[in-house]
Amino acid sequence: MSTSNFDPVEVAALQPEALEAATTAALDAFRAASDLDELKAARIAHLGDRAALSLANREIGALPPAAKAAAGKRVGAAKGAVQRAHDARLVELEAARDARVLVEEAVDVTLPTGRQRVGARHPLTSVMELISDVFLTMGWEVAEGPEAESSWYNFDALNTPTEHPSRELTDTFYVGSPDSTVVLRTQTSPVQIRTMLERTPPIYIVCPGKVFRTDELDATHTPVFHQLEGLAVDEGLTMAHLKGTLDHMATSMFGPGILTRLRPHYFPFTEPSAEMDLICFICRGESVGNPDRPCRACGSEGWIEWGGCGMVDPRVLIACGIDPERYSGFAFGMGIERTLMFRNGVSDMRDIVEGDVRFTAAFGIDA
Ligand code: DAH
Repeated sequence: MSTSNFDPVEVAALQPEALEAATTAALDAFRAASDLDELKAARIAHLGDRAALSLANREIGALPPAAKAAAGKRVGAAKGAVQRAHDARLVELEAARDARVLVEEAVDVTLPTGRQRVGARHPLTSVMELISDVFLTMGWEVAEGPEAESSWYNFDALNTPTEHPSRELTDTFYVGSPDSTVVLRTQTSPVQIRTMLERTPPIYIVCPGKVFRTDELDATHTPVFHQLEGLAVDEGLTMAHLKGTLDHMATSMFGPGILTRLRPHYFPFTEPSAEMDLICFICRGESVGNPDRPCRACGSEGWIEWGGCGMVDPRVLIACGIDPERYSGFAFGMGIERTLMFRNGVSDMRDIVEGDVRFTAAFGIDA
């Protein structure tokens, strides 16, 4: 092949017929390729390193200078034709693929879907967060405690006498046997004790959570319900701070002018103690003695009973190692189900408990 008087025409691969045959074979193969994978295989066979035209191209280097130009032209023309044929077929096959994908993967957005409905947060969670947020923005903290609680935290430390009726089996779930010292907490107040034992004043906390009492489920009772407790212990706290805090909470939740009223009451862990009412946020008291304008939210009473409160009994402070000569505290607690019922017009407790998504979804976007 590499003799000095070498005739390119005699190199078989460079002969015009051979180049033509290779070109024809390539064009046929490209035309025959019915998809992009087949075209790729044809490209490797006819334009790849081991293709006839590539091998022919390699022969050119060994030719005498005078013969190189003509042979190079022939091979170049053949390769160019093959490349163009490939590119044209590539465009065709890509267009065909795109058209097919558009049809095959088309989505009919008008078809009914089998999509599951999105769940919604339970309104009890929303109400607890709403109240907690009122306090968080004032710099209070959220505290939590166990639901299975030692009876010492749930009763004794809260100054509840041993013979107090709330300790009876008719009120309290005892874990294990009736004389067990572990109960399902009947109130969120034991979190007050845990917090005071763990920390030194100033203390400003709210404790939202589940509580348990041996009630049958009916329109106004449920054995598992929720409370939100508040506790502040600091130097110089008085009933005025308690009242101001409750009014702020009422206004934040129900709007300007919705204030609270305190009525004397008894709780073992506060002295003095009070029940807290909310002025009716619907009728603002105007339904009282006005049969033409009955109010469902307050039952035309003008006030809605909301929870209990008071100044922390010095005995409770002492039980928690806090000096009552230096510190005083106030506390309050209310039922969340009750709050949801009068705030959102829910008349049956069972709707709150049963977990029907239609009920929950109705409040799903509520704050
Ligand atoms: N724990 C009381 C209850 O379950 C509610 C309560 C009353 C909480 C007065 C308090 C309070 O913190 O000071 O009925």
